Amino acid sequence: MTNRFDTVRAIEWRDDRLYLLDQRILPASEEWVELNDARATADAIRDMVVRGAPAIGVTAAFGIVMAAREAFAKAGAGWKSVIEDDLQTLARSRPTAVNLFWAIDRMRGVMAGMDGGDPEARLLAEAQVIHDEDIAANRTMGELGAALIDPSEAVITHCNTGSLATGGYGTALGVIRSAYAAGRIRKVFADETRPWLQGARLTAWELVKDGIPVDLLADGAGAWRMKNGGVSWVIVGSDRIAANGDVANKIGTYHAAVAARYHGVKFMVVAPSSTVDMATATGADIPIETRAADELLSLGGKRIAAEGAGAWNPVFDVTPAELVDAIVTERGVVLNPTTAKMRAMMGL
Ligand code: MRU
Repeated sequence: MTNRFDTVRAIEWRDDRLYLLDQRILPASEEWVELNDARATADAIRDMVVRGAPAIGVTAAFGIVMAAREAFAKAGAGWKSVIEDDLQTLARSRPTAVNLFWAIDRMRGVMAGMDGGDPEARLLAEAQVIHDEDIAANRTMGELGAALIDPSEAVITHCNTGSLATGGYGTALGVIRSAYAAGRIRKVFADETRPWLQGARLTAWELVKDGIPVDLLADGAGAWRMKNGGVSWVIVGSDRIAANGDVANKIGTYHAAVAARYHGVKFMVVAPSSTVDMATATGADIPIETRAADELLSLGGKRIAAEGAGAWNPVFDVTPAELVDAIVTERGVVLNPTTAKMRAMMGL
């Protein structure tokens, strides 16, 4: 399953339950959280035990398997009438990653074709297919994205888009893995990604584990790093891509895209088609999650900001399509995205 430059997996279905590698405490400890029902699964998504749009979708699919098991135990042939509460609870866990809603809709589609018999085995098979398809999409995107990179010294990435953020291998980090394996880049600069430090804690951990050289950048250092040369691409993932190619991703992505354009550095977004939301016309319609101010005011549970200061904490931003040089999905590459090109890529 895994291979060189790809050793991490963070979502496992074992002994009829779901195990998640706890991303809140990496890299200090590697501990797994055991989940037995959909409510606990929704809590794990909201509380960032698991994060990253595709990983959230895969996790929700397994959460629905456990919801169905419970509904069948409670209501037998009437399980479809009692599962709805759990589906709503999962849908409320985080608002921006469209993969969550995509996975719930796909599982609903399977449920719609079922009768009153025990639903668990069929839904588990579907969740496993969703997981496997995500890894396969990442490998395809890895090849497609790496092919866009002329041999160069380094790329910059933001947040964590690796095996931890997906079913495995990663989106932007998958391209970086493939580009490094092919000798197209020699190192990675990873933004630390305040306030959850997905870059410093998670991306650096994955890359170090897989032997890919990584240097961290303070979140404000990207533009100056580009000015100093050697960076060919900024490569990021996405939580939702609108029909016109506007891209929602971790706060700070827009900042990186503006700096990239100014410095003549290319900007690549890597995401499976399950992240493309053709029902949302532009980035202005994407719901942007705002999290507690305390996440910014404190670090590691300790207040760092001056007492009395408030904080504005949107955790995603929207990069306009005009700043995006390439969107890479498993269905193909869209250069300089427009609605017409996105529709063609999605087969519409
Ligand atoms: O708040 P997070 O950690 O869930 O945010 C994750 C990101 O912004 C990722 O870049 C995005 O989900 C793509 S992951 C392949």
